[in-house]
Amino acid sequence: MPVVAILSQKGGVGKTTVCLGLAEAARLRGWRTLVVDLDPQANATDVLLDHPPELTVNDVLADGRPGVAAQAVVPSSWGDGLDVLPSEQALEHRNREGSGASATRLRSALGTLRENYDVVLIDCPPSIGELTVNALTAADRAVTVTEPGFFALRGAEQALQAITVVRDATNLSLRTGGIIVNRYRRNVREHNQRVQELRAAYPDLVLRPLLPERSAVAVAHGSGLPIQRLRNRQANDISAAFDELIRAVSGIRESGQTGQKGVR
Ligand SMILES: Nc1ncnc2c1ncn2[C@@H]1O[C@H](COP(=O)(O)OP(=O)(O)O)[C@@H](O)[C@H]1O
Ligand SMILES: [Mg+2]
Repeated sequence: MPVVAILSQKGGVGKTTVCLGLAEAARLRGWRTLVVDLDPQANATDVLLDHPPELTVNDVLADGRPGVAAQAVVPSSWGDGLDVLPSEQALEHRNREGSGASATRLRSALGTLRENYDVVLIDCPPSIGELTVNALTAADRAVTVTEPGFFALRGAEQALQAITVVRDATNLSLRTGGIIVNRYRRNVREHNQRVQELRAAYPDLVLRPLLPERSAVAVAHGSGLPIQRLRNRQANDISAAFDELIRAVSGIRESGQTGQKGVR
């Protein structure tokens, strides 16, 4: 039951897209999956739920009792096997400096809930503030998302630094789950240069495959559907990429390779 935090201090690089794509890939494999939406923008919540949630992770963190997160978890509208701990805008106050939020609050609120799942994915806000520190403290692995642009290397460096700081401070078992490169376009020279740079700096960390830029992503989000459900060539190759990445990111090796369990 690995808990995987998905982070980057930059907005708009695809954290939520990656979190949702990996979540559906896990669900389609028959893995019991939980998405924890820790971003006050609540983008993942909006896509995964077709109704406003009664309780959110904001209530959960305010309460703070061990295991209280279970009370706010609801089934997603995508189908069996995928639950959500939703977010809301009011969560923003926990990301301000001096909010007094303790780093271990999310970990404690999740308590033994994680044991109900094969994988837990945490969608982080676009900053390395209090909320992301809470995610990293609750996680076993931290995955960084980046675009193959000018700031990719610097961004990855900062995220890896944050992971090290949290590991030393509050979570000795935290591991780096790798770097996911999103919105890659094969025929753009700049993209290839940036990927090369990243691979040179972090030979073991840049995960394969690279996630391609696909307009199907926005179409899927706009209709509240997983990208995996759009059956066209564009959607198919990014879906296949998510299926490979969920194995890399979760570290789960299935014995006997039964393949997808078909819970569509
Ligand atoms: N691989 C992709 N191809 C095309 N559009 C993408 C891709 N990944 C993300 N996007 C788009 O980029 C925007 C930001 O993505 P999002 O996942 O919300 O980023 P973040 O969570 O890091 O802020 C969204 O409009 C999304 O549809
Ligand atoms: Mg997001």
